[in-house]
Amino acid sequence: MQEPVISFQQVSKSYPLYYHVRGGFKRFLLNFSKSMKSLREERFEALRDISFEVYKGEKFGIIGRNGAGKSTTLGLIAGVLKPNQGIVKVRGRISPLLALGAGFQRELTGRENIFMNGILMGLTRREVKHKLDQIIEFSELEEFIDLPILTYSSGMMARLGFSVVAHLDPEILLIDEVLGVGDIRFQKKCVNKMMEFKESGTTIVLVTHSIASVIKLCDRCMWIENHTVRMIGKPLEVAEIYCKEAGVDFDPTAYENTISQQVESTMV
Ligand SMILES: Nc1ncnc2c1ncn2[C@@H]1O[C@H](COP(=O)(O)OP(=O)(O)O)[C@@H](O)[C@H]1O
Ligand SMILES: [Mg+2]
Repeated sequence: MQEPVISFQQVSKSYPLYYHVRGGFKRFLLNFSKSMKSLREERFEALRDISFEVYKGEKFGIIGRNGAGKSTTLGLIAGVLKPNQGIVKVRGRISPLLALGAGFQRELTGRENIFMNGILMGLTRREVKHKLDQIIEFSELEEFIDLPILTYSSGMMARLGFSVVAHLDPEILLIDEVLGVGDIRFQKKCVNKMMEFKESGTTIVLVTHSIASVIKLCDRCMWIENHTVRMIGKPLEVAEIYCKEAGVDFDPTAYENTISQQVESTMV
């Protein structure tokens, strides 16, 4: 088999416990000096000992309940996070993670953000200019594209983010939850756009709650549970067990949101 373009070897990532004050803030204050000591020493483990590989051209889905560690995994792939332990190897031009607060500058307009991200990805101004119309058209943000993106709703931001990464020809396309925001019509448009990549050499890592999209788009799927890998396998096989454990009927023929919404509502 060919060399993987993404490889995680026993990767762990923790955050300072500061963000996860246990037992509530009141208790934290009452035991202030003890609390401060534990803050300095303790860390919150967002990912524990995860290993997987993604091969060139593969469409790789990541599923799991909220807080499981999916976005942290994407952050490590994108290089915006560093592991505390283990080795992360990534080869190829990678799309920026254009989630809220990451990759987008709030004060810049939509158009300026497209340029900035294109250039950060290594494209020339001329190359970005060439794709600009397509990006704006796909995002359906024509009226707003020259406004600072701090005026955008989260759905608009997600639309711009997806349009940028899907049109700038990355070798590795990272997508985080774009199918969870915005209306169903736009979600379907995103799925169709990703279907265009299906036979291409572009490697895609797709984080989503939409099990049906994973089945439709992905060659393999990783389920992260409790901050570690629960299962990696064929999307249908993983989805079946995932749904079973969530107590949701598994119907692979159901389109888009039906299954995922049920899973969401039982798991959140
Ligand atoms: N910057 C951060 N600082 C502290 N904790 C974080 C940070 N980012 C994520 N976490 C925590 O790490 C865990 C995994 O988060 P995340 O990867 O965003 O999960 P998912 O994307 O699967 O919902 C969560 O418990 C979350 O609260
Ligand atoms: Mg996330």
